[in-house]
Amino acid sequence: MKKTLLFAVMLALASQAVASAAAKEGTKVKDTFDVIYSRKSVRNFTGEPVSRENLDKILKAGMAAPTAVNMQPWSFVVVTERKKLDELASGLPYAKMLIKAGAAIIVCAEPKSAFEKSADFAVIDASLASENILLAIEALDLGGVWTAAYPDQVRVDHVRKVLGIPKDIIPLNVIPVGHPTGEDKPKDKFKKEKIHWEKW
Ligand SMILES: Cc1cc2nc3c(=O)[nH]c(=O)nc-3n(C[C@H](O)[C@H](O)[C@H](O)COP(=O)(O)O)c2cc1C
Repeated sequence: MKKTLLFAVMLALASQAVASAAAKEGTKVKDTFDVIYSRKSVRNFTGEPVSRENLDKILKAGMAAPTAVNMQPWSFVVVTERKKLDELASGLPYAKMLIKAGAAIIVCAEPKSAFEKSADFAVIDASLASENILLAIEALDLGGVWTAAYPDQVRVDHVRKVLGIPKDIIPLNVIPVGHPTGEDKPKDKFKKEKIHWEKW
């Protein structure tokens, strides 16, 4: 009886330790639908850095996306240096939130490695990776927002220049990542009239 009680106490302590470690690292498990519905564009950050561990998790989620014929025509540039984040912001009129972000992920599409070497497939696949990244950011209680580079040629050229991205690679977007201030809220975009059951 004593042994059973001791075992139960030890088990309770162990699970408490795991839960508190998970909470500390922002790995608290959330329901998938909660994550999807609470994802929002976050444009207000506290300025705190984002841990390498969380960046690795986010990138792994990106590469778990579906991709035509499993070609995976994507690459990711991760920026954490303050100077580079500010440099990116200077040429991107709608990405000024980079100034307070802890990091940025630039999702790149690689037409040469895409199905049929198609830029369209590369951009579609890289977009799916981007959405996975945005959902992973939300799941970790961080914030992020897709800011456009492609298809604006001036912004694409700016991102290429700052990060040394070759001409045959398309920087699709710049996703600032950071700790949210809490100001940004999810929008309810559900509209029944957008759905056509069985026939348009
Ligand atoms: C292709 C694309 C380009 C976008 N470009 C920008 C941008 O340059 N700057 C920005 O702040 N948000 C940008 N957004 C985010 C949208 O404004 C945002 O997703 C939309 O307003 C819906 O809000 P929500 O993400 O909070 O649901 C972009 C989103 C997409 C999909």
